[in-house]
Amino acid sequence: MQLVSQTAIEGRAGPTFAPLWPHSSQGVLTDITAFTQGQPYGAYRSLRETAPVSWHEEPWGGPGFWAVTRYADVMAVNGDPTTFSSQRGGILMTQGRVEERHPLLYRASMDAMINLDAEPHLQLRREHMPYFTPAYLRSLTAKVAGEVTRLLDAIAETSKAGPIDMVEAFSSRLPLFTLCEILGVPEADRSKFLQWMHYLELAQKLAQDRATHGIEPSLELMQFIQAFNENVEAMFAYGRDMLEKRRREPQADLMSAIANAEIDGVKLPDEFLDGSWLLIVFAGNDTTRNTLSGAMKLLTEFPTERDRLIAQPELLPNAANEFIRMVSPVIYMRRTALRDADIAGQKIAEGEKVIMYYGAANRDPHMFEAPDQLDVARANADKHVAFGYGPHVCLGKRVAQIQLEEAYRQILARFPKASWTGDIEIAPNNFVHAISRLEVDFQ
Ligand code: HEM
Repeated sequence: MQLVSQTAIEGRAGPTFAPLWPHSSQGVLTDITAFTQGQPYGAYRSLRETAPVSWHEEPWGGPGFWAVTRYADVMAVNGDPTTFSSQRGGILMTQGRVEERHPLLYRASMDAMINLDAEPHLQLRREHMPYFTPAYLRSLTAKVAGEVTRLLDAIAETSKAGPIDMVEAFSSRLPLFTLCEILGVPEADRSKFLQWMHYLELAQKLAQDRATHGIEPSLELMQFIQAFNENVEAMFAYGRDMLEKRRREPQADLMSAIANAEIDGVKLPDEFLDGSWLLIVFAGNDTTRNTLSGAMKLLTEFPTERDRLIAQPELLPNAANEFIRMVSPVIYMRRTALRDADIAGQKIAEGEKVIMYYGAANRDPHMFEAPDQLDVARANADKHVAFGYGPHVCLGKRVAQIQLEEAYRQILARFPKASWTGDIEIAPNNFVHAISRLEVDFQ
């Protein structure tokens, strides 16, 4: 078996079969600017209740997609990878128009295990496993706790002068530290990652701006495109250099595992090395960062739950799951139907796109009682689907939980009154809920 570079199939223009349920949320899930106000929980509710599997057009000219919003249906799609493929069209809603894609970014985002099915996916996933075992994670926990203390020591000083941006001072730094520890990135190089993440989060907005401005983009857009390209290229150049070094001299780190991974005796081709690098940098950083920030927002909005957590710190592991459920930082995952299928009675045609809305499923009242309430002792908080389910379930879920637990154990002990001031900025992105600024008064 050989790993072959992937081509995204945009999906078949639909709907082939008439939608069972009409709805009034056309355009809501594709309006990426609207996501700067947070996830569209009102539309999620209305879709869940009146059109659980609903057809949506794509304003940029794509073939359209089915949106799945109920918990049980999201589990059913995730649990049937032989019908709903990650590989056929990738996990993104769209890869954008060919002429607007960054070639390297497109190639790498396709050639990663998250976009593979069946055996090639399993083999590649297995290579990553040693860095996610309980024994390895125990040693990581101590390092994470140490870094939390260091970051909070700095915050204790800077926050004396007034509220600070928690994303800058904490939420972006902890996941970066943790990931760099797992990957084996030297300390001096770590700050570069922050800048790369900034540009990756804006990639979707860039594609939309390019489509809107047509052939005559503004000077500002041109400058942004240039900075974007330079950063993307620097990110891949760094990854390639590091992987090459690890092929020559393997160390005890995840980069060495990726560099020397073999599928049926053959080392990974270059495009899969780029893909593995992009996946781990993006998946490991952004999601946890946004949950760390989102948790502070939630604790401010639900002060009784914050007091309860301060009084009963043993609830922290459960609270971490409850934060992840409510934030659902990965907004959706896409699959493509490999054959005609049926979801909750709605007929789906072979080749059509199916998009699972994790934020909607995680607030399904049939699964979670009073789903819009933070409940740090919620009995089934760990049943959330924010990490996905099935063969692609998040590899880094324990890594994320450890960071949330360690972070809030120390934040609540040292700054029990820490609260969000109401000032927030969310990036225009309908794939990840990306909080780019959160003002917090720690004192
Ligand atoms: C709150 C934090 C996180 C959330 C919500 C999250 C969410 C997800 C989701 C939904 C998937 C499934 C993709 C699918 O179904 O196709 C996934 C996969 C993945 N995640 Fe995470 N993730 C988080 C943190 C992390 C961290 C910290 C790492 C690494 C250190 C990581 C690494 C990965 C990898 C490598 C995959 C691909 C697994 C595969 O395709 O088999 N994630 N994540």
